Amino acid sequence: MSIVAVIGTQWGDEGKGKVVDRYGQQAHWVVRYQGGNNAGHTIVVGNEKKILHLIPSGAMHPQAGVALGQGVVISPEALIQEIESLSGVYTLESRLKVDLRAHVVTPMQIAADIQREQRGSGVGSTRNGIGPCHEDRAGKRGVRCGDFLFNPEQARRQLEKQIEHWSYAGSGEQVFMELAGFIRKLEKIFANVTDLVLDAYQQGKNILLEGAQGHLLDPDFGTYPHVTSSNPGIAGIAAGLGIDPRLVSHVTGVVKAVMTRVGDGAFPSQLVQERWQKEEVMKFIYEKEGITAEEFEAHDSKTQNVIRKKWAAQFSLPEDYAYVMQHLSDAEKYVQGQTVDPLPERLATILGSGERKQTRLNHLLGMYFMAAAGEFGATTGRPRRTGWLDLVALKDAVEKNGINGLAITKLDCLGDLPEVKVVVGYSLEDQTVSKFPEFRLQGAIPVYECLSGWDSRAVTRASIFVELPGGAQSYVRRIEDFVHCPVHIIGTGPGRNQAIELHHPFSF
Ligand code: IMP
Repeated sequence: MSIVAVIGTQWGDEGKGKVVDRYGQQAHWVVRYQGGNNAGHTIVVGNEKKILHLIPSGAMHPQAGVALGQGVVISPEALIQEIESLSGVYTLESRLKVDLRAHVVTPMQIAADIQREQRGSGVGSTRNGIGPCHEDRAGKRGVRCGDFLFNPEQARRQLEKQIEHWSYAGSGEQVFMELAGFIRKLEKIFANVTDLVLDAYQQGKNILLEGAQGHLLDPDFGTYPHVTSSNPGIAGIAAGLGIDPRLVSHVTGVVKAVMTRVGDGAFPSQLVQERWQKEEVMKFIYEKEGITAEEFEAHDSKTQNVIRKKWAAQFSLPEDYAYVMQHLSDAEKYVQGQTVDPLPERLATILGSGERKQTRLNHLLGMYFMAAAGEFGATTGRPRRTGWLDLVALKDAVEKNGINGLAITKLDCLGDLPEVKVVVGYSLEDQTVSKFPEFRLQGAIPVYECLSGWDSRAVTRASIFVELPGGAQSYVRRIEDFVHCPVHIIGTGPGRNQAIELHHPFSF
């Protein structure tokens, strides 16, 4: 019997689903403890891709029960849609449990989140009402799933408080009736998830805890205020599940070799220039779809997402990018003002001249990662910002979450470069630091260490560690040395089975 947690160490989207999928094969229960439908993980059903937002990706394992603890905020409408989207594929009726104490996301909160983002005073949220739901919970205006079933008058009163607080134009009774209808539809799945987990644990079952988002989005330890509203790591397990976190026997921290971020906020090792990235991606999409920017903008946001996602999946870079990557050593020398003899004319034309050269080269690299790793949002199809792996931030995640083993994802996507970089410190105005500079991130200049690159196909072919190319082995070993934590699993390709497993937590 074990309780194993899989958590994100970065800004979410680290590829936790792949690890949960593997470990879930041994699990009797797969349980989420925080977040809400702001998460998005893609699962493949036959030839079809489905995106889950609330239901744990462990749903793919028919032997496992799946549960949402009280720390997950629940949009009942979204949950019903998700259950329906899986019907005929996975039977969830008898396997899915949701804690009665989980807070309900209401239309007032969703409207407030959207308005805030539209006014430009948000943090680039997912617009699902997650932030306002947590604000109402802390402000004692929240309403829990169980309130609708056992104390409807309290639910009504709480909804009225929210209507007043958010200056919502709708009627309280109408909101109540709508939400109560959804909750009644879901009635059979509600339970006390704490008891369920503890009972299963005492019966010797394996429990897998599936985190959402990641350490750098933690409201206490992340890049505040550009964070989510619940603790994605070990602290969230105690608060969001009501279990003693010392029962967790193993914490796997998922780290993506290509670092990414969506939404606003600092990202010191970011390579892409967002405005250029958006322009280039949208130009590709307009051409492929055969529409103008005005025609695209005239669509509602759901249709825009569908179009973006359709073409994001096929995104490819112009020839110039491959050319620069093939001549990366010369390109680096050129932007640093060193002599390159002879300097290929094409390189100079692509990179331009003056101060902008370095920015341009960084951007090309970031776009190369984005394309290689398919870094587009699962829900919106928007390109993610990309950059080099930050080991200082990773060490912070390891220390604060008691991570015992790392899962590195997308190692293959960093391939085919003469050298790769990792952040090992930050240069501030007056000093160089090796700790995460929480209050000075905006001005922090990363200090990089350069490591040898590797052939991505050799990574994809490897099925045991020693089959990895030397550069990739050294990269993994350097991560372990720097953060003082062993690597337990390495993702070597997009396929379900493309991974090298060094240790399995349920066999500890
Ligand atoms: P919220 O959680 O919707 O309030 O958004 C707050 C911040 O967290 C924004 O920067 C979001 O982009 C980010 N965020 C929330 N969920 C995810 C996720 O699953 N992956 C990546 N970023 C996320």
